[in-house]
Amino acid sequence: METRTAIVFTIASVIVLFSLPILHFLAFGVMIFFIVNVTMAFTHDGDLLLMLYEKWGQDGSNLKGKVAWITGASSGIGEALSYELAQKGVKLILSSRREQELEQVRERCLQFSELTDNDVLVLPMDLRNYESHKGCADKVLSHFKKVDILVNNAGRSQRAFAADTSLEVDKALMDLNIIGQLSVTKAILPHMTARKEGHIVNISSVVGRVPGELSCTYSASKHAMLGYFGAFAYENKDISITNVCPGPVKSEIVINAFGNKLDAPKFKDDHSAAERGPSFCMTAERCASLIVIAVANKLSEVWICKNLAMFLMLMYQWAPLLTVWIKKKVYGDERVESFKKSQMN
Ligand SMILES: NC(=O)c1ccc[n+]([C@@H]2O[C@H](COP(=O)([O-])OP(=O)(O)OC[C@H]3O[C@@H](n4cnc5c(N)ncnc54)[C@H](OP(=O)(O)O)[C@@H]3O)[C@@H](O)[C@H]2O)c1
Repeated sequence: METRTAIVFTIASVIVLFSLPILHFLAFGVMIFFIVNVTMAFTHDGDLLLMLYEKWGQDGSNLKGKVAWITGASSGIGEALSYELAQKGVKLILSSRREQELEQVRERCLQFSELTDNDVLVLPMDLRNYESHKGCADKVLSHFKKVDILVNNAGRSQRAFAADTSLEVDKALMDLNIIGQLSVTKAILPHMTARKEGHIVNISSVVGRVPGELSCTYSASKHAMLGYFGAFAYENKDISITNVCPGPVKSEIVINAFGNKLDAPKFKDDHSAAERGPSFCMTAERCASLIVIAVANKLSEVWICKNLAMFLMLMYQWAPLLTVWIKKKVYGDERVESFKKSQMN
């Protein structure tokens, strides 16, 4: 062996020898972190960081006086979030297509908070009518003079096999769940950029990380949301981004889901985790209260789910192939089969 090689070999051996305890220590740390996370999946309904912030971070009272624009505020998560934010003293713009439902949400916001008439604006809007969004942003700014928080929440899910789904449905879903969100964001972005502040909150989904069966296009739209706003955050340092990945939440999401055709009848039967009781499905109120924690503490991504959904989210980061296999075995295959049968009847 050459003298130089021998020296390099000796030095490398010494370094490895001395760093072994450090490597062991690091490996032990990673293992403990993993075990804590997995255990928490079955005892808590948010990721580790979110749970720590819920206990010791801002509870949302720091948001008092801010102005938040919530899309999809007429039901489910958006509705519950409106009440949570109203109680924290956040002024609101409530948007979606159903004006009457929005008016009811507005009434309840005023009833349960210290907000006054002028603090809650109902602004009907179709997310797929892109041309109207700039006008909507102008109305909001002329009423409140500012928007601090935009919550991109409106959206529809899907219950159909990809092979049976018409391209019109694929397009309508993408238009609503991703292009619609981008359009509203772009309508208010110049205002946030000029102010050098703003917070965009995106309601993605667990299937935005771990793809879900019977929801190929929906999963794609929710992945797109995380990808888009993940990249957006690098380019827009003055704007805070919070990406939210909820698991199953009780709402109107299933009855409003797209079927395989645009004119397919509405769903009555869930065929999803949402029907499997409280251990699978959380309330919109709980989901909204955790979103408030995430917003108040400016967390960049949060996972709001529990049990199997959280376990799969964690596992998917470490071992995607194994996770997909577990998911198929535990309920994926069964869900596909039961959906197939329901279509035959
Ligand atoms: N529930 C869950 O299990 C779950 C899990 C993960 C993620 N999410 C996400 O959470 C968000 C809220 O869903 P949700 O569970 O609260 O369902 P939801 O009760 O059906 O609410 C959906 C909201 O979106 C609005 N919307 C639908 N199409 C619209 C359009 N073209 N223009 C404007 N608004 C429209 C609806 O209002 P109008 O009908 O009045 O327009 C409604 O307010 C969605 O993005 C969903 O993907 C839900």
